[in-house]
Amino acid sequence: MKLFPAHPILWSSLLVLFALQIEAEADISDVCQDTMAADDIDVQSSSVQEHHVEMDNIYEKVYCLLYPTNILNCSWSFDTLQQDTQLFVNISICDGDKSVQFPDLSSEEKVGSRSLALHDHKMSLLILHFNITLYDKWTVYTSKYDHNMLEVLSPPQNISASIKDGGLLVTWGLPHSRADNDPFCFEYQLDMGDQETPKEFSEQLSYREPKVDPSSTYRVRMRTRKGSQCVEFSQWSEWSHALTVEQSKLNNLVIVSISLGIPMILLAVLLLLRHQRLSKVLFPPIPRPPQKYKHFLEKNYTFNLFHPTPSAEPAEEITEVEDMEQKTL
Ligand SMILES: *[C@@H]1O[C@H](CO)[C@@H](O)[C@H](O)[C@H]1NC(C)=O
Ligand SMILES: *[C@@H]1O[C@H](CO)[C@@H](O)[C@H](O)[C@H]1NC(C)=O
Ligand SMILES: *[C@@H]1O[C@H](CO)[C@@H](O)[C@H](O)[C@H]1NC(C)=O
Ligand SMILES: *[C@@H]1O[C@H](CO)[C@@H](O)[C@H](O)[C@H]1NC(C)=O
Repeated sequence: MKLFPAHPILWSSLLVLFALQIEAEADISDVCQDTMAADDIDVQSSSVQEHHVEMDNIYEKVYCLLYPTNILNCSWSFDTLQQDTQLFVNISICDGDKSVQFPDLSSEEKVGSRSLALHDHKMSLLILHFNITLYDKWTVYTSKYDHNMLEVLSPPQNISASIKDGGLLVTWGLPHSRADNDPFCFEYQLDMGDQETPKEFSEQLSYREPKVDPSSTYRVRMRTRKGSQCVEFSQWSEWSHALTVEQSKLNNLVIVSISLGIPMILLAVLLLLRHQRLSKVLFPPIPRPPQKYKHFLEKNYTFNLFHPTPSAEPAEEITEVEDMEQKTL
């Protein structure tokens, strides 16, 4: 009974693995093993002479990115295609030299997008097929993307910013890339929150802003991408979290409080003392009964206070005795 729920999961994962293996092995003309260079476009057509659409600019119409979370996102826009044209898009990847197809990532939309979590696969190449059909004629465009071209980096890590000798020193760690970790590959943008356009650097891991305004607060954040010397086009990463540098402001605050605060406090104390003496002369203190007497007053012990009970009771007894004596006589 306890094992029963595990079986369907086990079976389905086995089936998925099996299906993936079949898909990969069934691919005879293995696109992952051929020598077509990444970022070349392979064109196959039903009639060699007649291409229905000029697709030279396919890289402007298709946009794929691989995020640090291993999410692959592709979007395309063929909205300029002729009215009756049909479009079939399908997406596959190369995991090593095996191709993996994703049937649920095929589409017939002329403008569309698909995203895919690549948790089980290590993608070396992304392959997109676009079959464009007009009446009985078709053309298939196959484009390959190296994962290096698609990668969006994580923002720089270990950013530190501090004010030293009147300048702002910012340092950061080398970004991590799936493909290259050559320090010369990376470009950086530094935004100091001072309303100026971000500063751009490459190949360096620190920057010193020589003149800083001691009265302002700096909110330092950075982003990175691969430089054109390594990849033709690379998307900027997200911005890092902003670091707030306000050490100088704190110093100013201390100086202001020392130069203004202390005399003010002394003045206030002096005024208070003088005021107390003046008020003693003008309004002499009204005597107030201490707390323990107040307690007595509130409980109507006024009488008992002036005529203590023990003395009152014998007086009554005495009168009674006198009466008794009169009666007996
Ligand atoms: C993928 O790209 C499309 C179009 O740019 C966007 O709407 C969608 O939110 C993106 N998906 C992810 C997971 O980033
Ligand atoms: C994707 O398209 C190509 C070219 O049209 C085709 O050879 C391949 O079988 C298609 N794959 C899927 C899963 O539809
Ligand atoms: C392209 O699509 C057409 C129409 O669906 C189909 O006949 C043709 O075989 C497809 N071409 C390839 C290479 O898959
Ligand atoms: C960031 O700092 C941590 C701890 O000091 C270190 O382990 C890590 O390698 C650093 N990362 C980078 C990219 O410099």
